[in-house]
Parts: sequence; structure tokens; C-alpha cells
Amino acid sequence: NPLSPVIAIDGPSASGKGSVAERVATHFGFHYLDSGAIYRLLAYAAAQQAVAWSNADALADIATQMQIKFEHGQAYLNGEQVSHHIRTEEMGKGASEVAVHPAVRTALLQTQRNFRQAPGLVGDGRDIGSVIFPDAGLKIFLTAAVETRAKRRYDQLIQRGDHADYALILADLQQRDLRDSQRAVAPLKQLPDAVLLDTTDINIEQAVNIIIEAFKKAAQTK
Ligand code: CDP
Ligand code: CDP
Repeated sequence: NPLSPVIAIDGPSASGKGSVAERVATHFGFHYLDSGAIYRLLAYAAAQQAVAWSNADALADIATQMQIKFEHGQAYLNGEQVSHHIRTEEMGKGASEVAVHPAVRTALLQTQRNFRQAPGLVGDGRDIGSVIFPDAGLKIFLTAAVETRAKRRYDQLIQRGDHADYALILADLQQRDLRDSQRAVAPLKQLPDAVLLDTTDINIEQAVNIIIEAFKKAAQTK
């Protein structure tokens, strides 16, 4: 339903978008779109086929053909459950490399818009409020100090039992922030109509409550 309400949550890596968006979606009984996972699935699919992350035309073809599905928090590529494979820093980097190509972004536009279904949607990424759903009823720019974000990513990897190097994660985040905010198409930026929410000193629950209240207020004034 193109008229179902949308809450757009954009911001840099590890600002808490996924954790916050999922909880807000659960609160309202809305669908959830993890747009970053779609770019990660594409980077993974390309790697599987030995297609370079710089090859825009071949990537756009893969983007059009790949079958993606999200179910119970797991990501599927052509019927195969690949969540663990796409949640690596390597695929985060791959995602941000494939995401610079305009042809790739165009190929994934409708895929993302199809997630807008009744009773509503919470979407997170970099361009949900600017390109995918510019008419979103509430736009949040979620951010946090880069050192805080690096620490969160570090803790997340350690908790999963993965290897983690804080200095490397910090450098990677800085590089990714730069690539995401300086690219020509759909760069990461705070929109004039977005609410700035800095989570450096607040926890997930507090951020979730602020967004829930902001959405209720936005819905009342409509
Ligand atoms: O979880 P994290 O924030 O590290 O990354 P993600 O949201 O999974 O996104 C991975 C990469 O995909 C980002 O660094 C962006 O370059 C790209 N991306 C994008 O260009 N547009 C989106 N709407 C979402 C992700
Ligand atoms: O989706 P994004 O990359 O923006 O971030 P995330 O994967 O939701 O969050 C990265 C990590 O930071 C997770 O382990 C969250 O639990 C944690 N986090 C936190 O400790 N405090 C917050 N206010 C937000 C996220």
C-alpha cells in the first residue's frame, strides 16, 4: 500500500539504526526494512560469482536477478540462509562499494519500495528519507560519536565470538562514513526535515521511546 505510513531512520554505521528500527517496528506492529542488508546481499552475491564490486553493469544485473527474503530476522539469498555471511565487516565494506553505483541504486529502488505495506513500515539505511520514501511521515537522523560507534561494533563482534580489532574498526568506520557521505548519488546527510537523534549518551530503549513519541506527535498533527 503506497499510502501506509513510513518511519525513515538514516544515519552512519553502528549508530544503532537496526536495533532501534526493529524495536520501533515491533511497537507499532509495522514491517521492517533493513536496506543495508540488501546492499550486503548484493556484495555477497557478487563475491560468490567473482564479480568485482567496481563492475557497475554486472552488479546491476545481479541486483535485478537475485531473490531476496527476510524472515524471522534472517536474510536469504536465492533460497539460502546467508545472515552470518553478510554480517561481516568485509561485506559492510563491500556493501558501501557496490552502493556508490547509480545503476545499482536504481536497480534496488523498487525492491525497497515494495516493503511499504499496511499497517506501516520502519526503514533504516542512508537514503530512506531522501530517496526511497521522501514522503515518510517521520524522518530520523540517528548518529553517535565515531569512537562510540567503533566501540559498539567491537563489542558486537566480540559477543558473537568473532575476532575484532578496535583500531581497524575505527579506521574502517571513518572510511565508510566518508565514502557514504561524499558519494554523488544518495549521499548520507541529515535532511532539513529530519529529527536529529544523537545516541552517544543514550541507550537503545531511550532512543526507541523518543522515536515512538515523535511519531505519535507527527501522526496527530496530520
Ligand atoms: O550496519 P551498518 O550501518 O554498518 O551498515 P549497513 O546499514 O548494513 O549498510 C552497509 C553499507 O550499505 C553502508 O555503508 C552504505 O554504503 C550502504 N547503504 C546505502 O548506500 N544505502 C542504504 N540505504 C543502506 C546502506
Ligand atoms: O544498524 P546500525 O549499524 O546503525 O547499528 P546497530 O547494529 O543497530 O547497533 C550497533 C551496536 O550498538 C549494537 O550492538 C547495539 O546493541 C549497540 N547500541 C548501543 O549499545 N547503544 C545504542 N544507543 C545503540 C546501539
